[in-house]
Amino acid sequence: MPGTKKVLIKTFGCQMNVYDSERMTESLANYGYTETTSPEDADLLILNTCHIREKAAEKVYSELGRIRQIKEQRRLRGRQTQVAVTGCVAQAEGAEIVARAPVVDLVVGPQSYHRLPELLYRAKSESRSLVETVFPEEDKFGHLPRRAAKHAASAFLTVQEGCDKFCTFCVVPYTRGMEFSRPVSAIVAEAQALADAGVAEITLLGQNVNGYHGEGEDGRSSSLAALIRRLAEISGIRRLRYTTSHPRDMSEDLLEVHATEPKLMPYLHLPFQAGSDRVLAAMNRKHTAADYVELVARIRQARPDIALSTDIIVGFPGETEDDFTATLALVEEIGFAQAYSFKYSPRPGTPAAKIDGQVPEEEKTERLHRLQRLLDSQQSRFNAACVGRIFPVLFDRSGRQDGQLVGRSPYLQPVHAFANSDMLGRILQVEILGAGPNSLSGVVQAA
Ligand code: 5AD
Ligand code: SF4
Repeated sequence: MPGTKKVLIKTFGCQMNVYDSERMTESLANYGYTETTSPEDADLLILNTCHIREKAAEKVYSELGRIRQIKEQRRLRGRQTQVAVTGCVAQAEGAEIVARAPVVDLVVGPQSYHRLPELLYRAKSESRSLVETVFPEEDKFGHLPRRAAKHAASAFLTVQEGCDKFCTFCVVPYTRGMEFSRPVSAIVAEAQALADAGVAEITLLGQNVNGYHGEGEDGRSSSLAALIRRLAEISGIRRLRYTTSHPRDMSEDLLEVHATEPKLMPYLHLPFQAGSDRVLAAMNRKHTAADYVELVARIRQARPDIALSTDIIVGFPGETEDDFTATLALVEEIGFAQAYSFKYSPRPGTPAAKIDGQVPEEEKTERLHRLQRLLDSQQSRFNAACVGRIFPVLFDRSGRQDGQLVGRSPYLQPVHAFANSDMLGRILQVEILGAGPNSLSGVVQAA
């Protein structure tokens, strides 16, 4: 019965959750669900959640409070509503979610999304809440339906999931499980389907994407570099990106693809987390500040114009003012085009949550402000230096102003320009005339 039921998926957290939400939507479409943006109309409400920091996880419960009221109002109108919690909070908290929020009918961890339609059916027919958080033997990707025919200009594609680096602050090894790489053939088929649907840019996703080691088309293990080269052969795919990388896995062959593959965009998200070697050791990062500096030098040798982005945590347990100063110094030394910074948040079950010397909240806030001031100034400087240059921009959405489109520069900056909406999905040369803290603006060059 196509189109008889409506689903709303609210996505929190990282790009992998965005990808997972798309795959769930596609899978539910086969069972008659169409998307809605209005919670009151939704027969099925899914919260696809993030557990990375406490704030992210707590959002789920405030959202569930609102959903309880919506479900009650719908019940008074004679409508049934199913509520599902998916993602990393589902994996981490499991049955606790139902205990704390009985409005929830279904809790499904990230490895079981292919079973979502069946589980929804069972929860309804058995009139009880179900919790599914085991790591199943079968590969969920092999059981999800093919990618849908309709797509934006840019898409995510998960190639690797999970992590066994065990940074002491991080929940990912527990919520997403051990490292798993999809086979090259499955990724190529998905990329080809996306290209056929008009996608021009693919961002390869993985929690530790440069540790990718999936089975190659020749049956041997393939590196991320080899995968990128293979995907670059697909003619409709004009741009490739990947995220997130660990410094330890930036291999020579990956640097080589940055030097030689024009479809691989000159942008790299490479978290370093902290600038003090003592803190890095306590984080179990397996690299020092000097290792990072040396690696960045080699990356810039391979691709001199590469724009760097990073993740940084302030206030890790035991972080002193001197340790924090080392973080500022490393930022100064590298120079980032963009960065994400966070206050350390103790996560249940992770080793760092038990370390003595948790840094007081005010201290964390103060350090975060100082760090963000520096990062903002670097980002503004990077953007300002683009004025006067001509960039190929992939336009992928409409802008706020009439007749305006927004696209991305090779360095991932949003670029605003006036252009006809049939230019969506195309790469046009744009002369950059203005730069703000978060975006650029320019004029499209005549062909
Ligand atoms: N507290 C604060 N930030 C964290 N991150 C991961 N775990 C935590 C935590 N417990 C940050 C890291 C990571 C990014 C996705 O989130 O910087 O790279
Ligand atoms: Fe959040 Fe990490 Fe899960 Fe992504 S993988 S949703 S960042 S906890």
